Amino acid sequence: MTLWQGRFGEQGPASELLDFTVSLQFDQRLAPDDLEGSRAHVRGLARIAIISREDAAILLAALDRVEEELTTGKFSFQPGDEDIHTAVERRVTEVAGDVGARLHTGRSRNDQVATDLRLFTKRELLLTARRVLALQEVFLHKATKAEDAYLPGYTHMQRAQPVLLAHHLLAHGWALARDVDRLLATRHRLDVSPLGAGALAGSSLPLDVDGVADDLGFASRFENSMDAVSDRDFVAESLFDLAMLGVHLSRMGEEIVLWSTEEFGFLRLDDAFATGSSMLPQKKNPDVAELARAKAGRLIGHLAGLLATLKGLPLAYNRDLQEDKEPLFDSFDQVNRALTALTGLMASATFDTGRMRDAADAPHVAAGDLA
Ligand code: ARG
Repeated sequence: MTLWQGRFGEQGPASELLDFTVSLQFDQRLAPDDLEGSRAHVRGLARIAIISREDAAILLAALDRVEEELTTGKFSFQPGDEDIHTAVERRVTEVAGDVGARLHTGRSRNDQVATDLRLFTKRELLLTARRVLALQEVFLHKATKAEDAYLPGYTHMQRAQPVLLAHHLLAHGWALARDVDRLLATRHRLDVSPLGAGALAGSSLPLDVDGVADDLGFASRFENSMDAVSDRDFVAESLFDLAMLGVHLSRMGEEIVLWSTEEFGFLRLDDAFATGSSMLPQKKNPDVAELARAKAGRLIGHLAGLLATLKGLPLAYNRDLQEDKEPLFDSFDQVNRALTALTGLMASATFDTGRMRDAADAPHVAAGDLA
């Protein structure tokens, strides 16, 4: 049974409707955040005495049980569990009986999903920033070890002037530093609790919106309830940050591909980070770098797709907003995997500084400086 069935006729929703609208298959991922949001909401309701301390304890125990079932894989999803919010609430009501129904007092799935997604994004942005720092560390380490190795610097893909290998590597490091800044700035901006905004116009109950914001670790809470339930700027900003980061990884990927060709010969990939060819045994393919180069396409697509979804949406919540999650989840997943793989690849790769020197010592490369 869906949360909104009460108002509708006997026969229930068409299977075609459910097939098309259900989001459970992907928003299950918000379960930990949904549980946190619900706990804070229950404590908030108890603080304003809309529910008794005893009922709050029953609800919190039911939420613990649901968490246990979800984490051990014992939770059984039912037809009609449209999304993770419905599934959790349905189960809480089964476990806690009538008291369970009080969980949703003064709350809508509209402020609930906005809260869940902010909590999720806040955590993920930090994890991604840490991964970026790990890759940056590798560039820094390689730059330190490069000492006075030098190679041609290129403009227009033409040899231009000799540059230190360290200088070149740290150029990538600086791009990554901006990525970290951006991820953290987005995280800072999204750190606002929408819980208490209700469906769109808050609640007639004297909800403790500041208390729940504080309880959930948000820096502040919404000022305008209609904005709070319909704002997905933080998703678009995160998608931009991840796309920009993806573009940086793509540029690194391209350089790794080039440098590991026989023509350049500047970089040797460790066997563990190269693939072979079944037909051409002489080959050592840079698949990791190629995929890192490719992922940017998909990340840019997710950003463009979400902006197109948001464009022209009237206030306040519209079901269109459900389309925010899959691109966001996928962008985090793809970027994180690319970061981890590239970090391993770079850490294990070695430079042929002799080849670099020979290329840079070609007489015309220093012509500008000599003149
Ligand atoms: N699954 C929905 C989403 O992701 C939750 C909110 C549904 N709200 C509603 N009024 N139908 O956006």
